[in-house]
Amino acid sequence: MTQIRVGMVGLGTQAQNHLSVLSRDKRVTLAGVADIIEPVAQSTAKRYGCNSYGTYQELMDTEKLDAVYVVSPNVFHYETLKYALGRNLNVFCEKPMVIKLEHARDIVNSVKSAGVVFQVGHNRHFAFVYKKVKELVASGKIKPYMAIMKMVTGELQRPAWGANPKISGGHLYDTTLHMLDMCRWLFGEVKEVSCRAEANVYPQILNDFWINLTHESGLQVPIFTSGHASWIVPFERIEIIGDHAANHRGDEQSKLHVRAGSADPSRGIPLPATNLELGRGRGRQTIRRFNHRKERPTHHRSGRLQGG
Ligand SMILES: NC(=O)c1ccc[n+]([C@@H]2O[C@H](COP(=O)([O-])OP(=O)(O)OC[C@H]3O[C@@H](n4cnc5c(N)ncnc54)[C@H](O)[C@@H]3O)[C@@H](O)[C@H]2O)c1
Repeated sequence: MTQIRVGMVGLGTQAQNHLSVLSRDKRVTLAGVADIIEPVAQSTAKRYGCNSYGTYQELMDTEKLDAVYVVSPNVFHYETLKYALGRNLNVFCEKPMVIKLEHARDIVNSVKSAGVVFQVGHNRHFAFVYKKVKELVASGKIKPYMAIMKMVTGELQRPAWGANPKISGGHLYDTTLHMLDMCRWLFGEVKEVSCRAEANVYPQILNDFWINLTHESGLQVPIFTSGHASWIVPFERIEIIGDHAANHRGDEQSKLHVRAGSADPSRGIPLPATNLELGRGRGRQTIRRFNHRKERPTHHRSGRLQGG
C-alpha cells in the first residue's frame, strides 16, 4: 500500500480531529507536526510518534512530505499555503482558505501551476444529511422554489482569536462561510448579494448579518447569521421548499425531515409525509444572555458580484 507522508501545521482544536482520523488511516504516515507553541508541537509529536517543529518552514524543509494540512488560525493560511505550494506539496487547508480576495486569486493560480491536489475543509460536503439534500436537489426530486438558511455561533471567543477580524477575517469567514459554500454547492453560482450588518454585541467586529443571495437560476436565498446566539441547537439550519414538498436540515447532529406530498392527488405525487430521523443531538445546551445591547453602526451593502 502506498504510504502518504503527511505534515500538520497548527495543532489546536481542529487539528486534533484531523490527527485522530489520520492516525487511524493505514495509508498515512504522520511524518511531523508544527506549532508556534513548541510544547504543544512536542506533546502532539510524542502522542503520534512523529517529529515536532516550531515553524511550518522547518517542518516542510526537513521532512520529505507528500502532503501538508494547514490548520493554523485563518490569517496565517496564506503564507503557509504559498510555502507548501512552492514545494509542490499536496494540501488540505482548513476553511477559510484565506481572508483576502487577492490572496484567494493568487492561491488558485499557484495551485494550477503546482498541479497538486488541493482541498479546503468545507466539511459539510461530507455530512450525510447535506449529501442527501444535494442528491434530492440535483436529481430534481425536490425543485427549490424557496430556501432559507441560518447559521449562528454561540460566541465569538472560542477560539479566542475568533473575535479579532484581523486574524479570523470576520464572522462571515469563520462560520457563515459554510452556508455560503452550501448555497453554491446546492443551488449553483450566485450573481448578486445584498447584506445588512451590525456590530451589536462585539463592538470590534460585525456580528449580526442579514444576507440575501440571488442565484443565477433566479432563486433567492436569505441567510441569517449571528455571532452571539448561545450554543442552543440547532445552530445551523436549511429549509428548502419545492412543489408541496419541503426539506429541512437542522443542526448536524439532529434530524433531516423529508416531507413529500401534494395538495392535488391527480398529479401523481405520493401524499403521505415521510419522516427521516438521523441520529440524536449532542450539542451543548448552554444559555448565555447578553443584556448589554447598544446601538451600533449599521452597514448596508448591495451590489453585483464581479469576476472570478
Ligand atoms: N471545518 C470546520 O468546521 C472547522 C472547525 C473549527 C476550526 N476550523 C478552522 O481550523 C483552523 C484552526 O482552528 P482551531 O479552532 O483549531 O484554532 P486553535 O486556536 O484551537 O488552534 C490553532 C493552533 O495554531 C497554532 N498557530 C498559530 N499560528 C501559527 C503559525 N503561524 N504556524 C503554526 N501554528 C500556528 C496555535 O498555537 C494553535 O495551537 C482555523 O482556520 C479554523 O477556521 C474549521
